[in-house]
Amino acid sequence: MKVLVFAGSTRIASYNRKLAREVAGMARLKGAEVTHLELGDYDVPMYNADLEAKGTPADVMKLKQVFYEHPAWIICTPEYNASYPALVKNTLDWLSSPVKGDPVWSDDFRFSRGKVVGVLSASPGALGGLRSQSHLIPLLLNLHCWVAPQTYALGRAGSAFDDQGHLLEEAAKQRAQSVVEQVLWAAERLHAR
Ligand SMILES: Cc1cc2nc3c(=O)[nH]c(=O)nc-3n(C[C@H](O)[C@H](O)[C@H](O)COP(=O)(O)O)c2cc1C
Repeated sequence: MKVLVFAGSTRIASYNRKLAREVAGMARLKGAEVTHLELGDYDVPMYNADLEAKGTPADVMKLKQVFYEHPAWIICTPEYNASYPALVKNTLDWLSSPVKGDPVWSDDFRFSRGKVVGVLSASPGALGGLRSQSHLIPLLLNLHCWVAPQTYALGRAGSAFDDQGHLLEEAAKQRAQSVVEQVLWAAERLHAR
């Protein structure tokens, strides 16, 4: 099973990136073929239909293909103002915007339809970014994704990792692991050949 894991943050010391690395490792241990994507490696401008009319940016086209090739995604999102960050929205908006006249990518939900998606969040606050999930999940459903019912919000993220970036608490590891397992379980069934 090919699983795409990414954090909705480009911050060097991002808690969500650390969490993404942890769940990527867990998925690998379960036999998944994991791609840990860094959104910061892609040059994606703020969405603008006038810019798009001149041609969809090359890195957006690359990302469409990467997302399309993975039947399962795991997203670790920060919470900004009780929602998910513009980085996540902007990326998904670009990816869902049809490429007019393109024989393959004129289908807006080609990159996302039928994907099994696990949602996690991490925040220094007590709620762990839980409210970001309640906004992100409807967006994913709109993209025709199947969202795993099990989610995890890691609170007090500033003290949740050791110096190597590993989760300290066994309970946190188990909660993250349960999301990974549910995503793999569902993806193997929905994408069985
Ligand atoms: C504009 C802005 C709004 C924020 N709003 C929230 C919030 O509503 N809830 C919360 O728990 N943290 C909030 N934070 C704090 C983030 O959770 C914190 O910066 C976190 O480290 C971001 O995730 P990262 O470590 O993966 O980059 C906010 C941060 C910023 C910059």
